Amino acid sequence: MIENPLPLIVCVTSGKGGVGKTSLTVNLGLCLSRADLRVLIVDGDMGLANVDLMLGLEVGRTVRDVLEGDAEPEDALVWPDHGLAVLPATSGVPEMVSMGPEDQARLGEYLGRLATGFDVVLMDTAAGIGSSVLWFNDYAQGNIVVMTPDPTAVTDAYALIKVLRQRYGKDHFHVVVNDTASDHEGRRVYDNIARVADTYLQVTLNYLGSVPSDPAVRQAVRQQRPFCATAPDGRAARAVEAIGTRIRSLMTDPKP
Ligand SMILES: Nc1ncnc2c1ncn2[C@@H]1O[C@H](COP(=O)(O)OP(=O)(O)OP(=O)(O)O)[C@@H](O)[C@H]1O
Ligand SMILES: [Mg+2]
Repeated sequence: MIENPLPLIVCVTSGKGGVGKTSLTVNLGLCLSRADLRVLIVDGDMGLANVDLMLGLEVGRTVRDVLEGDAEPEDALVWPDHGLAVLPATSGVPEMVSMGPEDQARLGEYLGRLATGFDVVLMDTAAGIGSSVLWFNDYAQGNIVVMTPDPTAVTDAYALIKVLRQRYGKDHFHVVVNDTASDHEGRRVYDNIARVADTYLQVTLNYLGSVPSDPAVRQAVRQQRPFCATAPDGRAARAVEAIGTRIRSLMTDPKP
């Protein structure tokens, strides 16, 4: 077990929807917990929760019950694996999508309390640039921006980075390029956005790597299990494992 006095709090975000945030979050969470870290996954897609579905979890209490004062944060946690906890969100509750300042403050307090029991906190966000998405990004120490090579995904990722730079002064982001045809394609997409972000936003990007397009990902989603468990030797699982190793190094140096 790594001795870590402060947990690393990381937000997984994207701008564009459907680029692989949730599947990256749950699989990274599993990889890191199997590497002996205590990991908390927070479902920050407050109105359209997916983390519990991708892990096949039975959910009782959710973050909504916690915010409404009907449950303690610790009581809402679900434990899919040794050293891996999930704080589930709700689905189909539009009010949860745009948390007001009071809810944001309370959630920040609860997460701070929960985080002390973990080495890494991974917060999966909704798509878009709504208030909850921006709040999770502001709250996090580390921001992983996920994109695919699709120009719309890259443009939306850039737009999100721009808002976070201008509104919160965030000047350092980590990038994962998902659903790629090759490592080369991932690197090319990263090099382009890193150059533009540096030139026009004075933002530094750090490349965590790419995850190849892999049918095992889709199959695992349908089985409601992480692909790192169903196909541990597959291309996507090996790529996520490598990203996990880089994230572990962020625990000692969050801005490489
Ligand atoms: N590397 C990959 N290879 C193949 N399919 C993938 C890959 N990554 C994601 N997918 C597919 O894309 C779908 C969307 O992924 P996911 O739900 O993780 O995206 P998301 O960014 O969380 O979406 P949302 O914005 O709706 O929350 C998955 O159901 C999966 O089938
Ligand atoms: Mg999602």
